[in-house]
Amino acid sequence: MANLFDVPQFIEDAPSLAADHRANAAPAQAAVVFDNVGKVFAGSNGAATAALAEVTLNVARGEVFGIIGRSGAGKSTLLRLVNGLEKPSSGAVRVNGVNVGELGERGLVTLRRRIGMVFQHFNLLSAKTVRENIALPLKIAGVPKAAIDRKVDALLDLVDLAAKRDAYPASLSGGQKQRVGIARALVTDPDILLCDEATSALDPETTQAILALLRDINRRLDLTVVLITHEMQVIREVCDTVAVIERGRVVETGPVWRVFGEPQHDATRALLRTLVHDLPADLADRVKPLAGIAQTDARVLLDVRFTGGNARDPDLAGLTSALSIEGGGVSFVHGGIDRIQGHAQGRLIVSAQVRAKEGATVHAQVAALLERARGHANHVEVLGYV
Ligand SMILES: Nc1ncnc2c1ncn2[C@@H]1O[C@H](COP(=O)(O)OP(=O)(O)OP(=O)(O)O)[C@@H](O)[C@H]1O
Ligand SMILES: [Mg+2]
Repeated sequence: MANLFDVPQFIEDAPSLAADHRANAAPAQAAVVFDNVGKVFAGSNGAATAALAEVTLNVARGEVFGIIGRSGAGKSTLLRLVNGLEKPSSGAVRVNGVNVGELGERGLVTLRRRIGMVFQHFNLLSAKTVRENIALPLKIAGVPKAAIDRKVDALLDLVDLAAKRDAYPASLSGGQKQRVGIARALVTDPDILLCDEATSALDPETTQAILALLRDINRRLDLTVVLITHEMQVIREVCDTVAVIERGRVVETGPVWRVFGEPQHDATRALLRTLVHDLPADLADRVKPLAGIAQTDARVLLDVRFTGGNARDPDLAGLTSALSIEGGGVSFVHGGIDRIQGHAQGRLIVSAQVRAKEGATVHAQVAALLERARGHANHVEVLGYV
């Protein structure tokens, strides 16, 4: 019987894979590699669904890698390829250098012990206690009881559920159930944790707590986490790298702060819309183009964005003085700054006084103002005038 507390050698199940690994050009540090992966499902009526196409991604060892996309984008399919629940129709998925698609049954069993999985709806057995649920994967593998007890106790402490060890799932809150799900996923000492919408059934506060736990586990156990979600907030809270998937294709990928700060694709912008500080309705009603206001004297409304690109914190004093060409003050009307991976980024809507002067129109003064303000932010645009 395999000792679950050693690193299993699942390569032994497929001798050709070691050579395959050496030939693989992917970075040595990658925990999971998707190499031009396609997945086509054959429909019952002969119609085929292309769930994934040309997916190429590297998940680095030890990182929290987020995959975000709308419903039906192919997220779950992508995750199921990692532990061999699905096989790619084309291309290859490699886990720790091993081509998952080429593993036999025995190889898959060993692989899955190295990969924990957490589900949206917890998937706990209602007739078993918290302890028994967590212990199940080890019991199935025939691990001696004393070793199981030691492992389960340590995990109960890790997920802060020691007091509920003998409770049944029905008496637990959603957050507690997900802690059990996480402990069960960790019981075989995996080095990769897959999370399929692990927080989607939880309220915002419980979501925060579970994300903090995942982050803690990632750091403490040096675990690679691949997490899929449709919520940008989840990505922002916990991920290092994000890939945006749209209709089975990766449309954007990179460090979270960069993708959030400078989204390149419409799908990314659409997903980010839930997070940005949009112009409040009362203000939107009052904003007019320049032609609609008195030409000599107005307040210009500016959209000021910090993308975190220069790794500098926003200098609001500098911005204020750049915008104080005329009296009348500078107002911060709406918005906020977030910190993502140490990069300050956000959007501020600012109003400043502009006034036509001899020889200079309001328009010229706004142009000068923009020029000055752009020295203090990454993007500054005119929204209109009030
Ligand atoms: N076993 C299957 N047989 C046929 N089609 C499938 C199968 N699994 C998934 N699909 C199809 O593949 C596409 C991607 O599905 P997938 O479950 O990966 O999406 P998802 O991004 O996880 O969506 P959600 O956010 O709703 O969970 C969908 O069009 C789906 O209908
Ligand atoms: Mg899904």
